[in-house]
Amino acid sequence: MLEYLISSLNTSTIILLVVSFLIYAWYKNVSRPAGLPPGPVALPIVGNIFELTKGPLHEEFNTIAKKYGDIFSIKIGSNWCIVLNNLELAKDAFLKKPVEFAGRIKAFTVEYVSQGFNDITGASYCPRWKLHRKIAHSAIRHFASGKRLDQLVHNVLPKLSRALDETEGKAFDPKEALGVAVYNILATMCFGHDYSYGDPKLQFWIDFNKDMVRALGNGVPADFIPILKHFPDPRTKGVMKIADSWHMELGKEMKAHREAYDPENVKDLIDCLMKEQENAIAEGSAKVDSLTETHLLQTVSDLFQAGTNTTTITLHWAVALMVKYPEMQKKVAEEVDRVIGRDRPPSVDDRGQLPYTEACMYETLRYSSVTPVGVAHTTLEDVALGNYMIPKDTWVVVNQWAIHFNEKHWDEPNKFKPEHFLDESGGVRQHPEGFLPFSFGRRVCLGESFAKAEIFILFSWLFQHYTFSVPPRQEGKFDLKLDLGSGFVRPLLEYDIVAKKRF
Ligand code: HEM
Repeated sequence: MLEYLISSLNTSTIILLVVSFLIYAWYKNVSRPAGLPPGPVALPIVGNIFELTKGPLHEEFNTIAKKYGDIFSIKIGSNWCIVLNNLELAKDAFLKKPVEFAGRIKAFTVEYVSQGFNDITGASYCPRWKLHRKIAHSAIRHFASGKRLDQLVHNVLPKLSRALDETEGKAFDPKEALGVAVYNILATMCFGHDYSYGDPKLQFWIDFNKDMVRALGNGVPADFIPILKHFPDPRTKGVMKIADSWHMELGKEMKAHREAYDPENVKDLIDCLMKEQENAIAEGSAKVDSLTETHLLQTVSDLFQAGTNTTTITLHWAVALMVKYPEMQKKVAEEVDRVIGRDRPPSVDDRGQLPYTEACMYETLRYSSVTPVGVAHTTLEDVALGNYMIPKDTWVVVNQWAIHFNEKHWDEPNKFKPEHFLDESGGVRQHPEGFLPFSFGRRVCLGESFAKAEIFILFSWLFQHYTFSVPPRQEGKFDLKLDLGSGFVRPLLEYDIVAKKRF
């Protein structure tokens, strides 16, 4: 029968069959799975990638939302993704169904950098993720909260002060001075020591984040079309090389810790992890499998990376905004003078006493939105969201920037207005609707409390001791290039200012 069928096929029938198959494959590749919300038509293989590379991701998502609504679907390479462009949808997903929406994407670069999704941020929702989140959380509580956090931040102030004084009134970009302070705080918490200015190792950590953000952009082709990981292009190879050198340097830090490890004197995050490992081995617990050397290195790596770049960029924005709006800077300095004076540095306990200063800090977090589209989640099962049934393994992105600039939550959202965070009686609005720089739900930023307290101390200290201004002859030209940055983490701004010590 088969032989008869084959022998009866002529050339035109074969062409017809091949064409029909290709049309079917094309149709299957681009047709939206049942249950997903509408969205732009996808191209085969690449999906909607070209639409997303025209400008910053958050702006592209906003443009698509205007046409298809606040929930829409797009295809990113071979992955379907829903984008949630308003707060209600974000809450319905991340708060009302926290576990169903707690997965993470399986992108190639995440896999490579996290050595097989073995960190916290890139890990899927699983017992190992929970264990490491718990260990990291208790390390942050132990080493970076209350008086210990004051101490961590106060320790970096003399070096920061020296770096600012050395500019001697000349125009400079504060990114390096701020970066060194933030990296040293995290280094002390993770490694138990800090670095002096100009230390090549410190520069290596700082450059890593910068180089990685630049090399990664919105992701490399293999992140969207998995087969391409077998044929890495020069940019992908660049990301791999940067990650290899990071793993090697961090490996040296872990090795030095292993040699000096004293279970009676647990002094930093690495020691905490080693102690957990030691306990698990002693108890013969199954947790041992989740506490290998790779897991330990990855948790340290994750906290060090997640906590440094975001905080540095936020502080860099904060200084820029205070320079752009000198009348606000004056009010901050006056408030700090009135409440704290000059004889002691600000501390965690001062929060709540400096409402205008704190409001400026929160407004910076809103206005800069350093992670404009957050970190992508995935669905762990088929799950209902509004009128839609989102299939398992769909990517889920919340457009944090769209929420931070939505008129429904913010009056004059495009203006930098500390009053957004002040109530009628002049107190701070800690959790206004539509404010989610650290996201929420099961995957909420692990360092939220730490970051807020750290930024508060550094921010108020800066204006306690310095007045920052636009360099002479550049007045009126201080442009913050708000549209800068297209990646998942905004790159640093480019600007010069002048620092004058307050006496
Ligand atoms: C201004 C500073 C910071 C901002 C804006 C920020 C923002 C974020 C955001 C948006 C997420 C993704 C949440 C989600 O997936 O829904 C995240 C995750 C995370 N952040 Fe932060 N972060 C900051 C500082 C820190 C610090 C200081 C640390 C630790 C020292 C940290 C550690 C983490 C970790 C480990 C995760 C992954 C959580 C998980 O997947 O379970 N972050 N952060």
